[in-house]
Amino acid sequence: MDQSEKRLIFTAEDIARQVQRLASQISVDYQGKEVVLIGVLKGAFIFLADLVRQLSIPAQLDFVRLASYGTATESSGKIRITTDVELDLKGRHVLIVEDIVDSGLTTVFLREHLLAKNPRSLKMCVLLDKRERRSVSIPLDYVGLHLDKGFVIGYGLDCNEAHRQLPGIYELIV
Ligand code: PRP
Repeated sequence: MDQSEKRLIFTAEDIARQVQRLASQISVDYQGKEVVLIGVLKGAFIFLADLVRQLSIPAQLDFVRLASYGTATESSGKIRITTDVELDLKGRHVLIVEDIVDSGLTTVFLREHLLAKNPRSLKMCVLLDKRERRSVSIPLDYVGLHLDKGFVIGYGLDCNEAHRQLPGIYELIV
């Protein structure tokens, strides 16, 4: 893929500003508590790494890996867990960290899955809220950036596993 096939929509600086803002808000909201951040692999790995380093509260980390059946650019909505969390979440303050919420189906599935582990609280932090294909109503407690539409890559987001390492977020022009 060359430069003409992608268009920069959020620079690394745009993203860093939002990550700092979210981390400040989370640090205030969870003051006096310890939070367990659950990164949703693979896409959230960069966002989670940047976010956790800006927090001023105690934090523990864990990960889930989900798989949805579908094409490279469109999920089918059928989701399964391929790697579950390892920490015991019972009675813990849990914050899901996602790179993007699109249809919302992944979030609905994951919330149900994590609520069954009896956390004390469960909130959701997402870098990119893309509402074009949203088919369910979900509470997004912390949102970095909004996007109307488009298939995006970079800052953890991929197309067929490529381009996750781009420091900015680009719209893929097909
Ligand atoms: C992305 C993203 C979310 C999900 C959101 O993951 O990280 O988990 O899609 O889509 P939805 O709101 O329509 O359900 P993806 O399946 O691309 O896997 P990846 O993180 O490993 O790239």
